[in-house]
Amino acid sequence: MKSLIIANWKSNPDAPGRAELLARTIDRGVRRFSKTEVVIAPPYHFFSNVGQVLGKAKLGAQNMFWEDVGPYTGEISWHHLKHLQIAYVIIGHSERKRYLGETEEMIQKKLHAALKNGLQPILCIGEEERHAGGISPNLGKQLKTAITGIKKNWLKNLVVAYEPIWAISTTPHAAADTPDNAFRVSLYMRKILTDEFGRTAADRVRIIYGGSVDSRNIASFLEEGGMQGVLVGSASLHADEFIQLVARANNVAKNSKM
Ligand code: PGA
Repeated sequence: MKSLIIANWKSNPDAPGRAELLARTIDRGVRRFSKTEVVIAPPYHFFSNVGQVLGKAKLGAQNMFWEDVGPYTGEISWHHLKHLQIAYVIIGHSERKRYLGETEEMIQKKLHAALKNGLQPILCIGEEERHAGGISPNLGKQLKTAITGIKKNWLKNLVVAYEPIWAISTTPHAAADTPDNAFRVSLYMRKILTDEFGRTAADRVRIIYGGSVDSRNIASFLEEGGMQGVLVGSASLHADEFIQLVARANNVAKNSKM
């Protein structure tokens, strides 16, 4: 199975020319890695610069609004993304919760709208603090709220990203997560999906990892962590590092029996 690698550029870089150069360099560098699916999610205003230089990698968005069009100042909706032929959209990233007050109810509406309209959402689920002695029940609560009202046959387009907030690079004093913890969380999330939708449908959901991934630790999260891809923040802003990361994911996928 191909590994899904999402580059979340957040509010970077600072100018369209730099975005275009970074995208072009990455795209050329990852073109030969056929066992990977690469998505670049730049700020909206770089879509055109980035989109025009991509061959292998696909464009993704970092957010979307749940209504189609109307009086929603500042929002870019699923309808606008569809118009731009952008399929992938990150939903519920922890920075949106932290800085913009995005709630679980808003995330649920966004997820519903994205799936219903044929987009491929990357739903972020993560806990603020490392949970001593097991898995935070809050992860289950977030996932269950988000999938409320979702139809079974939409699940093939769903990607769930486990994003331990305590491990991501922008969190002060971030701590490194272990592949073992990631593996346990992925089983826990898969069980919630299975209880809700049955095994066959739940198995179609891709579960990926987003807690400060780089070229040195990616293989362990894919192999021992059993993850089907990664959501990459800061390491996706350095072309050489990101290409190396994709190369490692490609090797893991090539050597895997699945
Ligand atoms: P990071 O970001 O890779 O810079 O830690 C990950 C994320 O925000 O999901």
